[in-house]
Amino acid sequence: MRCTSTNCPVRAATAYGARLARRSSSCATKKNRVRAYYNTCRHRGAPLVEKEQGEAKGFFCRYHGWTYDLAGRLTAVREKRDFPGMDTSCFGLNQVRCEQFGSFVFINEDPQAAPLLESLGPIPQHLENLGFDSIRHIASSSFEIACNVKILLDAFLETYHLKSIHPQTVDRFLDSRGTHIVLWPHGNSMMCTPHRRAEWRDPGAVGMPEVPTAEQIFLSQNPSYNFYPNLITPPAATGTPFITFWPRTARSMTVDVHWFAPEGAEGHELWPTRMSNFERILEEDTQFAPRIQESCRDGWLQGHLPVVPGAAHLSLARRARPSHRVGAPAARAECAAGARPVARHGLKAGHGSD
Ligand code: FES
Ligand SMILES: [Fe+2]
Repeated sequence: MRCTSTNCPVRAATAYGARLARRSSSCATKKNRVRAYYNTCRHRGAPLVEKEQGEAKGFFCRYHGWTYDLAGRLTAVREKRDFPGMDTSCFGLNQVRCEQFGSFVFINEDPQAAPLLESLGPIPQHLENLGFDSIRHIASSSFEIACNVKILLDAFLETYHLKSIHPQTVDRFLDSRGTHIVLWPHGNSMMCTPHRRAEWRDPGAVGMPEVPTAEQIFLSQNPSYNFYPNLITPPAATGTPFITFWPRTARSMTVDVHWFAPEGAEGHELWPTRMSNFERILEEDTQFAPRIQESCRDGWLQGHLPVVPGAAHLSLARRARPSHRVGAPAARAECAAGARPVARHGLKAGHGSD
């Protein structure tokens, strides 16, 4: 997934937020048609794009100098006489399927998958008034967590834990007893939690410009959307984090947090505060994950878990067990580590990038 919001119609970038697609690059042509390609030269597989983002009129391979245009065609081969009979039209870049939702480009390596908007069900309609067509990327951070990806996902699909681990943060303004969860086809869902007081506003976002078309639910409640299988977002009228969950091994994962602002709000002075507030909440959410991982791996977590509003506890725990049993002894040390930030890019206090 990446965001294409830009004033420039010609653009090339490696995909951020798409760890599956680290190998791919994407570009918007002059007609603003988005295409994605594997970031692999057809000659010997060297990378064609080496920066996170930028603008280009085509792709140039620094290994032996082959050149491709934005449509992926091989347009120049150095010392072509050494390739007798070569038909360059057979050596265009390998394209990857990609589809757009607002300004976001979703890359999909499965050609048989259902169309993006169809598989997202009602989610695009819910979010259509939040200005996602002109949304701006502010910054991204990554955190490594020593647990199976499903253990952390579980924490973002229920609010039963708010009173216990977020007493000074989320629990102060969200009423978990009012949470309702809607399950949709293809694994997507929405979890909506009301503010304790309808007029409450996030102090970390007070004064930030709001999307004028945002519906009331995004002001007085906290709806959180789960794009199955690994993207969760609690959108707000003042800006939206996309949280993506990436497995690294059966016992470790990376969570990426990408922040997006309404058009015109990207340079607001409150962004650093707002993001660090969110990181504090993320730390609270991740504090037990490595120990839960150990419990799963060693078979200590057995049998029955109470059926609570976050019923996903039960199914996730059951699904997690078999893979964790395969753990190596070294995993115990790995579990001792909590959330570890590995990168933040894009943030410039006072004036964010696109
Ligand atoms: S690998 Fe790209 S030109 Fe050789
Ligand atoms: Fe939480």
